[in-house]
Amino acid sequence: MPNTVLVGAQWGDEGKGKIIDVLTDESDIVVRMQGGNNAGHTVLVGKKKYVLHLIPSGILRARKKCIIGNGVVLDPVHLVSEIDGLLKLGTNVKGRLFVSQNAHLVLPYHRSLDALREASKGGKKIGTTGRGIGPAYGDKVARVGIRLADLMSPDRFAGMLKERIRVNNIPLREHGLKPVSFKGVLGSYLEAGERLKPLVTNTLLMLHEAMEQKKRLLFEGAQGTFLDIDHGSYPYVTSSSTTSGGASTGTGVPPNRIDRVVGVMKAYTTRVGEGPFPTEEAALGDMFHNMGREFGATTGRARRCGWFDAVLTRHACMVNGFNDISVTNVDGLDQLKSINVCVAYKLDGETVRHVPPSTLDLERCEPVYETFKGWQCSTEKCRSWKDLPLRARQYLKAIAKVTGAKLSSVSVGPDRKQTIRLV
Ligand code: IMP
Repeated sequence: MPNTVLVGAQWGDEGKGKIIDVLTDESDIVVRMQGGNNAGHTVLVGKKKYVLHLIPSGILRARKKCIIGNGVVLDPVHLVSEIDGLLKLGTNVKGRLFVSQNAHLVLPYHRSLDALREASKGGKKIGTTGRGIGPAYGDKVARVGIRLADLMSPDRFAGMLKERIRVNNIPLREHGLKPVSFKGVLGSYLEAGERLKPLVTNTLLMLHEAMEQKKRLLFEGAQGTFLDIDHGSYPYVTSSSTTSGGASTGTGVPPNRIDRVVGVMKAYTTRVGEGPFPTEEAALGDMFHNMGREFGATTGRARRCGWFDAVLTRHACMVNGFNDISVTNVDGLDQLKSINVCVAYKLDGETVRHVPPSTLDLERCEPVYETFKGWQCSTEKCRSWKDLPLRARQYLKAIAKVTGAKLSSVSVGPDRKQTIRLV
């Protein structure tokens, strides 16, 4: 497999972790390029369930290397706990996990500010994961961030931290919130920094050396296209570049070294957090939640659910340049008598086939559906295209056609084995 980027085509939670896990077999290095521990990838290997937030799921394959790139914002204390959690489950990251010295740190005041900003927005809150992601990227862009390289120099880190805590405690105090303690943070972060020292490196050089040695890179996108800071349903987005271009800026691997872009999408649509969602359908959400599905891996929140929206996925195809797509969670639709696919929107009496640039307009869009007959039998044991019921195949072909990309795999359950490869 050449150098491949995998990204979500919807609002995150498309089941990327599982597809990454499957594609990892054909790659040498798995790279995270953006986001932080707002992400949550669930992977099931046999009976063991792994939920990874920062570490690429490739770590679960022996001999694969994993890199956390410069575009990621990283809470070092959380990373250490994730490493320890893996160790308890029998996976050692030593010599296999490397972290960019240029990754920016998420600090406790980022989390407090995240909560404060959400509270101050009242009814217009974003519904963030509360992990401090927006404020951490905000500091990066404002050029006042602290990076992992700074943490590796305790004196420099202490000086920078003291100043940032002084500045950030002002709004916290103003709003009657607990100020962040310099001593407490300094101690826990230096301790985590010491643990991470062997992993911190110049990942840019590592990646370019790996490419010279013809190693195959797999870039693991977090969140999804419509949470992208530039291309998503702004302001109801995350603060990073979740689209395929983020693979270059978040790692230093240039666009002309990327050979393939894979889009992952659910056979329906979900989103967590606030913001427009034209095909949202409460009854579908109730059905999934009663089945025990569609609860967030990071926050446990019940996801909002709706029909497949081909207007969105076509847009995602344009922005990311998908070579092919992987459709997941097909088994979620097994019981349904009929299934809707949104092929266009109605906006002010006009039929629109593209996502309107304004989020306010997207909020007003009414879906135009094409209805498919359900297959009403279990797909969970299907292992090949031919095993799938005819109506499921027709449905999948139709959503690939309206999206405009080639279908490369179909997932019918959480296990690695429940993946049907078509290429
Ligand atoms: P933040 O990234 O915590 O700032 O949250 C901003 C928006 O992105 C909120 O709507 C979150 O629910 C959403 N979000 C962030 N990470 C994920 C994810 O991994 N899956 C799905 N939604 C996410």
